[in-house]
Amino acid sequence: MSLAGLPIAHRAPAQAGLEGVVVADTRLSHVDGERGELIIAGARAEDLALTEAIDFETVVQRLLELGSGETLVDVRQRLAEARVAAFARVAQLTPALTLPNTMDALLAATAQGAAGGDALSVLGSLPVFVAASARLHAGQPPIAPDPQRSTAQDLRIMLGLSDNPARARALDAYLVTVSDHGLNASTFAARVVASTGSDITPCILAGLSALKGPLHGGAPGPVLDMLDATTNVDARAWLEGELAAGRRIMGMGHRIYRVRDPRAFVFERALARLEQEDGESSAVPARLAHARRVEQAAEVLLCERHPERPLRANVEFYTALLLEAVGIPRELFTATFAVGRCAGWLAHIEEQRRTGRLIRPAARYVGQMPH
Ligand code: COA
Repeated sequence: MSLAGLPIAHRAPAQAGLEGVVVADTRLSHVDGERGELIIAGARAEDLALTEAIDFETVVQRLLELGSGETLVDVRQRLAEARVAAFARVAQLTPALTLPNTMDALLAATAQGAAGGDALSVLGSLPVFVAASARLHAGQPPIAPDPQRSTAQDLRIMLGLSDNPARARALDAYLVTVSDHGLNASTFAARVVASTGSDITPCILAGLSALKGPLHGGAPGPVLDMLDATTNVDARAWLEGELAAGRRIMGMGHRIYRVRDPRAFVFERALARLEQEDGESSAVPARLAHARRVEQAAEVLLCERHPERPLRANVEFYTALLLEAVGIPRELFTATFAVGRCAGWLAHIEEQRRTGRLIRPAARYVGQMPH
């Protein structure tokens, strides 16, 4: 059948991954894939992440302030209250929180335990559900949040980790850095649901769902597996085996960046600072050196295979190292990413709502036509 009679939009070649398609104006973050620059709420990601006075709450306030006018004190207090309220629901959410996969548990607990909540109550619930799920999976009782702590400090304590300010600061740097990143898959999913007029929790569930697959948010665990697997073997040979088996190298490549992901630099600096500040993090330099060797081998190999397409380390490569160094178990990496990215989702949901416009692109019909 000829496409000649169809409107122009239907005749255009399908853009399956929507690359390069601009579907929203945003004041929340800017990703420059050529120069390797990330700006979040008007500031460079590295300046936010590595400035001591700026923690996750500060960035939440900056992102949400554009929509709701919350002060920093309000944000801190409301997130703390939300953690306490979420913890009160943990016992009744135990069947959800003990689902075998952490992301399934987080989805189910959020659907049941954060339904109808406003932005900050949903955001405050996530670290509680992540920590409670991990504790229950380990056969240990969940630990109650402490409203005097920040999100990063409290997440570590609720996981049963020691009260270590350097590691909490490094976790803060992580949460800040991943708080927003343009129209990535999960943020887009959240915005699509928001555009239908839905309330907040279903939008957040859409974002969480988009993190379940390995291509977005799911790579840090496998990156750590790769670093473990290559510790005593030739990294290049191991990587060649992965590619020969038809698998992608996790933590490498990015839809937008054509240079090394700027967040990888931020995490390397956060790791260096952690190593200086925390006497217990003496394993960091050796792990970092090994990661750089594997990264370099992967870069060379991918360049040989795709000379036309720079495939460099992305955020998830060094996420693996940073989260490992702050004591987060690898099965919680994606869920911890969700805690940070939830800030961006919420700000985008608000921004999308203000447009009042349903997101509804077109598909080109390539099926049979009736005779
Ligand atoms: N390992 C091996 N090959 C890779 C690769 C990787 N990490 N990333 C991309 N490629 C290959 C693709 O297979 C494709 O090759 P082909 O044309 O021979 O099939 C080519 O490079 C171009 O990639 P493209 O499909 O245009 O990339 P994309 O924009 O769709 O993918 C990612 C971006 C992130 C999904 C992709 O790089 C990837 O899967 N990375 C690994 C997962 C990961 O780290 N995710 C976290 C992202 S922050």
